[in-house]
Amino acid sequence: MIGAFERLLRPFLHSLDPEDAHALTVRLLKLAPRVRPPADDKRLAVRAFGLNFPNPVGMAAGFDKNAEVPDALLGSGFGFVEVGTITPEPQPGNPRPRLFRLDADGGVINRLGFNSQGADAALRRLAARAGAGGIVGINVGANRNTPDRVADYVRMMERFAPVASYVTINVSSPNTPGLRDLQQAAVLDDLLARVIDARERVTRNAGPTPVLLKIAPDLTLADLDDIVGIARSRRVDGLIVGNTTISRPAGVRDPKSGEAGGLSGRPLFPLGTRMLAETYVRAEGVFPLIGAGGIDTGAAAVAKFRAGASLVQLYSALVFRGLGLVGEIKSALLTALERDRLAALADLIGTDAAAVTAEPWPH
Ligand SMILES: Cc1cc2nc3c(=O)[nH]c(=O)nc-3n(C[C@H](O)[C@H](O)[C@H](O)COP(=O)(O)O)c2cc1C
Repeated sequence: MIGAFERLLRPFLHSLDPEDAHALTVRLLKLAPRVRPPADDKRLAVRAFGLNFPNPVGMAAGFDKNAEVPDALLGSGFGFVEVGTITPEPQPGNPRPRLFRLDADGGVINRLGFNSQGADAALRRLAARAGAGGIVGINVGANRNTPDRVADYVRMMERFAPVASYVTINVSSPNTPGLRDLQQAAVLDDLLARVIDARERVTRNAGPTPVLLKIAPDLTLADLDDIVGIARSRRVDGLIVGNTTISRPAGVRDPKSGEAGGLSGRPLFPLGTRMLAETYVRAEGVFPLIGAGGIDTGAAAVAKFRAGASLVQLYSALVFRGLGLVGEIKSALLTALERDRLAALADLIGTDAAAVTAEPWPH
């Protein structure tokens, strides 16, 4: 129902300024009648981080920054929704324009800079839907001008654990100056120690809350060695690989590719998938990975599983393809299982990881 309506509307949305189109889409989803999606094929079910996902296709962070429409998104067929990034205090983000469609490349550049209504507003909405079911992860970040970034993450962990299926520590947005420095080994070790400690403190009231770390695709492999090692030693529940890239891969031709900000969508797929496979071989199955970056077809999603993902997330391709892509990906996953006579998605995970890491570095 949402899908058919959206198909009619997409050309109009595409004619608008990208940020206005996004705001209108969220408003329409708010108005959409609540529907229960048809039950997913059992072979699409995934158990990860102690959670039972009905299917492995998630809405990536950044679409529903203020937790306004998680249930409408779940109703559109996503197996899980990650809301945020939410910052402790409200903040406006960077000046507009700050969101660009790269039509020639199927890409998006954003330099939104954590525009957020803040923790109180999001908490109110999430508390109101408590008990509604569905997997809703909360992606948290630090305020741009905070005196203590690590303290921001600790406070967000404490506040959101009771309403979150999982909490994602986002240290990989390129649009908050200095944020990605939190990925440096010593800083990250301290950050994760304190966040996990906060999680343990609130577990008695909030129940167990998985903690995921979302990383940038622009790390060196030496950085990645450190990060995976720290995530393992601090017993993080999983990694999301990953965020937008500050690189501009060869072949990107849209004139808007010169805009500053993080690039996502199809041009991110080769780098994002390589980093996913590199992370998979380092994680050695200790925790599951969520693959994100440039998934715009069923085949691209299957490739993410083969590179090492247990779950996937997408955002940019929805701008070009609409919500129908979610169903297309689910069908492609089932076809891949049938073709290779596999019983479950788990049998697909990482089958190509070694091969992907042996390829020339994507440029
Ligand atoms: C407009 C826009 C806003 C985003 N905002 C966030 C954010 O607030 N927090 C975050 O962790 N990732 C954010 N992302 C990154 C996405 O969650 C995702 O990791 C990335 O876009 C790669 O997936 P894709 O190629 O399917 O879009 C944003 C992406 C876009 C396009």
